[in-house]
Formats: sequence, C-alpha cells, structure tokens
Amino acid sequence: MIARLKKIGFTSKLILSMSLLSISCAKSENTSIDPGLVWPNHGTEEITLQKNMPFPMGAALNVNLLKSNANYRNLVIKEFNSVTAENAMKFAAVHPAKDTYNWSDADYLVDFAIANGKRVHGHTLNWYQSLPDWVNNFQGSTADWENLLKTHIQTVLGHFKGKVVSWDVVNEAIDENGTLRNTIWLQKLGPDYIGRAFQYAHEADPSALLFYNDYGHEYSVTKRTAILKLVSDLKSKGIPIDGIGLQMHTRVTQSDANLASAITTAAATGLKVHISELDISLNPDNVPGASYTVALGEQQAAKYKVIVKAYNSIPKNQQYGITQWNVTDTDSWIPSFYKRADWPLPFDAQYQRKAAYQGILDGIK
Ligand code: XIL
Repeated sequence: MIARLKKIGFTSKLILSMSLLSISCAKSENTSIDPGLVWPNHGTEEITLQKNMPFPMGAALNVNLLKSNANYRNLVIKEFNSVTAENAMKFAAVHPAKDTYNWSDADYLVDFAIANGKRVHGHTLNWYQSLPDWVNNFQGSTADWENLLKTHIQTVLGHFKGKVVSWDVVNEAIDENGTLRNTIWLQKLGPDYIGRAFQYAHEADPSALLFYNDYGHEYSVTKRTAILKLVSDLKSKGIPIDGIGLQMHTRVTQSDANLASAITTAAATGLKVHISELDISLNPDNVPGASYTVALGEQQAAKYKVIVKAYNSIPKNQQYGITQWNVTDTDSWIPSFYKRADWPLPFDAQYQRKAAYQGILDGIK
C-alpha cells in the first residue's frame, strides 16, 4: 500500500493517514482521502463544499436514504447548500392518477431543506420519462392535452411556491440528432409546448427561476448547438426562461476541451448556468472486473477540477451552482441503471471524501 502511494508522489503524512484509513475500512475498497489534509486547510475549521466553494454546491437526494440513513443525511447537511429531488418531484411520483397528487416524499425533502437552510431546485415539470400510465394512455383532444400539461405544472408550482426557488421546466426535449425529440408532448401538442410550459410555470410562480435542462453538451456539438438555439429562441421570443441546466453525466475519458466548451458556450447565451446532474463515470464501457484504483481516482479528480475551473470562470451572476447526481458512489444511479460497477461521485461507499473531492477544491485555486 505505502509503496503504491509513494509511486504517485503523495506526501509522507498523507501516506501514513491513508494507510491508517485503509486499515479502518479494510473490508471495502479504499477510495477515500484524509479529510484533514484537504486544501485549503483553514486551521481547525473543517473544509466543506458549501463553505469553501464560491457558488452553491448541491446534490440530488434519494428521499428513502434521507429518511433512513443518518450517514447520508449528515453528509448532506454538512457538505451541500442546495438540493434537488432525484425522483420525488417527477410526474409519476407527485401525480400518480388524474385527480391524485402525492406530495409526501417531495414535502419531506423540502421540509428537510428548509430546516437545514438548503436551497431547493425542482426537477422536473415536463419530461417524456417518468410518466404514469394514466398520462401515457390518456385519450383526449389537443385542448385536453394542453389542459393536462398546464394543470400539472401549475398544481406542482402552486404547491411548492415560496419553497422551491427554481425549476427544470422542460427536461431532455432535444434528440441526439439536434431535432425536437419525438415525445408524447411533441406528438400531442406540437413544438410550441416547450415555450408554453415555461409560460404556465411563470404564471403559477412569477418569482421562480425557470431552467431548460438537457445532456450532451460536452460530447455532441450537434446536440449542444440545437439546445443553445432552442433556449436562445425562447429568450428572444420573450418566453420566461432564466437558465440552462447542463446535466453533465460525463466520463473520465471526456476531453478537457469538450468539458470546458460545454460550459462556456452555455454561458454565452447570457442565461444562468446550472451544472445540474454531475457525475463522472470511471467505467463507461463496462469493463468486466473493473475496480477503483488510486490512478483512476486521480484522473477523476483532474476531470472534476477541469469542470469546476471552467465553471468558476463564467460570470458570477450566471453561476447558479453545481449539483452532483446523488451523494456517494453507492447511492449513484449509474451502477443500478446501467448495471455496471462504477464510482462516479466525490464520496465513497464509506461516506468518505475521494480524490475527486480534492479535485473540486482545486478547481477554484
Ligand atoms: C434518474 C434517476 O437518477 C434514477 O433513479 C431513475 O431511475 C431514472 O432517472 N437525467 C435526468 C434525471 O434528468 O432525472 C435522471 O435521473 C438521470 C438522467
């Protein structure tokens, strides 16, 4: 262990503390760094993301874990000042039947956030996924569909008014080839459903900041150009849009230049930019038997640093914040959703900071 660390040039103090740490969690993978040695060290006061980063730092939260797992909850309280519901505010969760709304998990998250002084970002009002059967099977005229869209948006906004300060109004409306995705919403309502969704949201809560959220800015110029055109057109038509969310579900092999361009081109719209669902996959190609190594952890740290550095260089008033998609590697959606081993987040399964955490701090140096 010590020899392996010396090779990559850590200080002897770090080597010693990491060795001790690895003994204390010898049964599981040693992915963590020593929190006491994280830069910059402000004497006895511990570094946290929310205290040390110059813009809001958020995490998507799983409400079941928030309720049942004290380590998870305490880490969120300590590190983050913004939260998003990973699933609890999606259509199927809050509006399971035509005349039934179920606020229990979303309200739990919002109450937790308010009690602990966290900002709440809402996700998401309009998406083609996470729709309940009653919507997928809905039979009605164009006017009935319009009413369904409007009622859902305005009921959800109305419920959380004054508590949820910003929303991903429309999520993933652009396809890989740069055209509008052929969703049920496009089919039933035509291309202007996007602008109307923003108008309905604005009517229901004029003080909420409204975002268009999507992925792919860092890997596809075609898709990015289409997304940026969509939001710029909305803006120039006077549609109430305040920001653009870059999901940024990315991978350790993505180039630094592509990651930086995703951020700077979004900022060029003049809108607020939210890195809204950040994670950096270490095993995107699902290599069998892959494992977390110190070297991979360092590469991941370098990518987190590149993203934070580019984000820190856009105008302050456009920095809505960086939200990571869940809290630790064990809670991440990537291993279960894509059925592969992966370690995409800055905290490990033992709730300890990984090298990626240091990478985030290094991004503002
Ligand atoms: C994901 C959640 O993380 C999973 O738990 C769920 O099974 C599927 O949705 N883009 C989005 C998010 O906008 O809502 C998705 O969240 C991840 C991709």
